[in-house]
Amino acid sequence: MTSPSSTLVVPEVSLVPRHIAIIMDGNGRWATKRFMPRVAGHVKGVEAVRGVVEACARQGVEYVTFFAFSSENWRRPEDEVSLLMRLFVTALEREVSKMHANGIRLKIVGDLSRFDDKLQKMISAAERKTAGNTRLTVTICANYGGRWDIMQAVNQMLASNPGSGDFTEEQLAPYLSLAYAPEPDLFIRTGGEERISNFLLWQLAYTELYFTDTYWPDFDAAALELAIASYQQRERRFGRTSAQLAEQSPVAKC
Ligand code: IPE
Ligand code: IPE
Ligand code: MG
Repeated sequence: MTSPSSTLVVPEVSLVPRHIAIIMDGNGRWATKRFMPRVAGHVKGVEAVRGVVEACARQGVEYVTFFAFSSENWRRPEDEVSLLMRLFVTALEREVSKMHANGIRLKIVGDLSRFDDKLQKMISAAERKTAGNTRLTVTICANYGGRWDIMQAVNQMLASNPGSGDFTEEQLAPYLSLAYAPEPDLFIRTGGEERISNFLLWQLAYTELYFTDTYWPDFDAAALELAIASYQQRERRFGRTSAQLAEQSPVAKC
């Protein structure tokens, strides 16, 4: 039996994760616990994003991707949704220049067509302004769903290759929203739930998963260090055996 050559290529592994993907969950419960409105948790959550972005830049992480609003979050009460949209606009207004000054490239991915014109224009302006930065790429997934992403990629691939069939994974990959980034090494979900909630379904195939009960507003640089330390204990086999890994250097094992 022969195997396709693509499955023989094992991704490179580094001690510090190159790409961290985060489901920021628990804002509402953080606030409720303090007898505050849920919105207070979202406001605090934006501050936590700033702290984690800074910590990632210090640690040498190259890509950090945040799930900010899912395709399913439209099901929330109207006032919470509109508040989240306003917070998004304010965060862009306040943070983009600072990010740019710190060498951060900002990307926003998801079905952006559902956002109002003003927000869509702000998003393109922010992406354009920071496009040349190379220190850290911060991606915000907004109105994003893993299934949406796979389907939009399939549709683009079919439109670009009319009449052909039998496509490969490698042919689909360039059309996915995060085609510019390596697949996440580490996935973090705060807030105690242990599920993917339609986040990066394709890209998380071999990502190390880390769940913590900490609510997102409390997730700080120290909490990130714990997650990275847990990642560094993992043996990333990518289908191989432990014995095969033992033949490699300890760093390659991670
Ligand atoms: C995550 O926190 C933020 C968004 C989904 C926008 P939640 O708002 O889901 O907080 P909990 O899970 O209700 O505590
Ligand atoms: C996932 O959180 C989405 C974001 C963090 C944006 P949710 O709070 O919406 O997830 P579920 O509904 O509990 O799975
Ligand atoms: Mg939640």
